[in-house]
Amino acid sequence: MSVAYETLLVEISGGICTVCLNRPQALNALNETMIRELDHLFDELAANDSVKAVIITGSGLKSFAAGADIAQMKDLSVEGGRKWAQLGQSVFRKIENLPKPVVAAVNGFALGGGCELAMACDIRIASSQAKFAQPEVTLGITPGYGGTQRLPRLVGKGRAKELLFTGMMIDAAEAYRIGLVNQVTAPEELLAAAAAMVEKIMKCSPFAVQMCKAAVNNGVDDELDTGIVYEAEVFGLCFSTADQKEGMAAFLEKRKANFTGR
Ligand code: CAA
Repeated sequence: MSVAYETLLVEISGGICTVCLNRPQALNALNETMIRELDHLFDELAANDSVKAVIITGSGLKSFAAGADIAQMKDLSVEGGRKWAQLGQSVFRKIENLPKPVVAAVNGFALGGGCELAMACDIRIASSQAKFAQPEVTLGITPGYGGTQRLPRLVGKGRAKELLFTGMMIDAAEAYRIGLVNQVTAPEELLAAAAAMVEKIMKCSPFAVQMCKAAVNNGVDDELDTGIVYEAEVFGLCFSTADQKEGMAAFLEKRKANFTGR
């Protein structure tokens, strides 16, 4: 990466970029600098062909991200609050729409904006010590980084409203039970489990994975009839790739496919 970040630790190895939210003194709360740095970083990750997948985690054992920075938000005006939300929303949307898989490795508290960041990722893996909540109503506000929209899409309206209306905190087991996370691991195995997930995805055709992501993201909020039109388009596009020819030839020749990303 071309710049050093104040609030993020960024490491690229074997095609995987690991992004560590790094404000441990504030339990990795998302301040404006961190949001702007994520914005910049995800532009770089989109443009960097050597990066095939991204893992987002938090520094330390205690917290993924304990929400947006309350000290920075406390004196916002109506207009300032709207802009604060819009900035975070646009950055999280950029993360959600990165044309590469993004996995959240949730190592501890994922509260408010932290839970919203995890929900903007494609897949969530949680340490057994992770805790999730949208506690905004206990601060006199609503979620502002997509929580009112992504939570019901992930866990259904009834469960989302319970979490949103009460601010209650749930543990990793409950988050798994309601479908908020895909997998729960021992804390010391979290990063390895996230890497294993990413590596499993990276064995598949990158173009096909990218098209699956686009089809889900584009279709999930549309009518089924619109979504399946888009699906047919991306399905057709796959037949323009060498990976489709290789994948199907390998199946018929009873060998492992060797995808090149073309
Ligand atoms: N913003 C700013 N600072 C935060 C923070 C946050 N969201 N969360 C924790 N911190 C800071 C604390 O102020 C404290 O700083 P000092 O040492 O300088 O006092 C430090 O991190 C450690 O926190 P605690 O002493 O509170 O640690 P704890 O173990 O007693 O409690 C906790 C941990 C339960 C996570 C508690 O810190 C907490 O409840 N944090 C706030 C969680 C929250 O309400 N998040 C939602 C924010 S609103 C939001 O995110 C809106 C949106 O959608 C845009």
